[in-house]
Amino acid sequence: MNILAIESSCDETAAAIVRDGRQCLADEILSQADMHAIYGGVVPEIASRNHVTAISRLASSAVRKAGITKRDIDAVAVTFAPGLIGALLVGVNFAKGAALSLGVPLIPVHHVRGHIAANYIAFPQLEPPFLCLAISGGNSLIVDVRGYTDMHILGSTMDDAAGECFDKAARVLGLPYPGGRPMQELAEGGRDDAYVLPQAHIEGRPYDMSFSGLKTAVVNLAHNAAQKGEELDRAGLAASFQRAVSDALVPRAMAAAGELGYDTVVVAGGVAANKRVRADFEAACRREGKRLFVPPLRLCGDNGAMIGAQAYYEYLAGARAGSDLNAYATMEIDSPLLKY
Ligand code: KG4
Repeated sequence: MNILAIESSCDETAAAIVRDGRQCLADEILSQADMHAIYGGVVPEIASRNHVTAISRLASSAVRKAGITKRDIDAVAVTFAPGLIGALLVGVNFAKGAALSLGVPLIPVHHVRGHIAANYIAFPQLEPPFLCLAISGGNSLIVDVRGYTDMHILGSTMDDAAGECFDKAARVLGLPYPGGRPMQELAEGGRDDAYVLPQAHIEGRPYDMSFSGLKTAVVNLAHNAAQKGEELDRAGLAASFQRAVSDALVPRAMAAAGELGYDTVVVAGGVAANKRVRADFEAACRREGKRLFVPPLRLCGDNGAMIGAQAYYEYLAGARAGSDLNAYATMEIDSPLLKY
């Protein structure tokens, strides 16, 4: 089954062709990051307008690069939640038109489920159940993935997402948007014990996370140093910050996997690209004898292939949308709206 998958939830426009949920035939991505960098973050209206101009071209290019014709497309899939509402609506409307004109089913896909499914493309042997840590610019979730479309949230962030925290801390240190990668590069030259940064624990909720205190600590350290005319150890602060984020994520995910008795840990989302987080997971999984799956870098950030992969399993579960499909800025990964 060939699925044309559309992703436009934030500042990447993407179109992919995925066969039977596992084989990516083409994956076209246009990042708008440069256009938003001057504003220090994504400007929703600019994102929507850029999706409008790019999406049709990317979809045609994906079909061509996959070596198929439009007649070989068996279904159209689209990210319909969560994300920037205007940006999502561009993808949803394009996908509706494409499905209607091709006479094929339309499959709605939850964005974070897509991030998890990036691992199905990268690792043919991976099957649920497993424990997943989904960490991106908008989400930080510890998920019990019981089946391809059967998920249960064990923990989530109470405030900022891990990626958002990277972006805000990076901004304070004068780094460009998106800040995750520049922060990682700056950290490479610093000691991770240069600064003691706070760790949040939420009473009685061991798998929930909070990153706003960490963000505020970085802001205060930078401002205090500036006010006193002291030189900030920027590399040391970046390294200490990165360690603090990893320390908030890795032990929680490992503890959740242990409690559920899972021997497989999966990491997904843009922050899964982080070298420190990857290294800490590798060490923890080696220590505890668990299998670790982390997507290659190109599948960590937003892409269409992950939507096409998840769409296949949503389709098998009965997911179908009509021409009245709406987009949703927020939606839980285990929402009743995702039961078909
Ligand atoms: O998954 P993604 O592309 O978009 C969402 O679905 O939100 O994630 C984007 C986030 C940004 O916050 C970006 O700074 C972060 O992923 N990111 C990283 C790294 N690469 C991207 N964070 C830490 N280290 C990285 N190497």
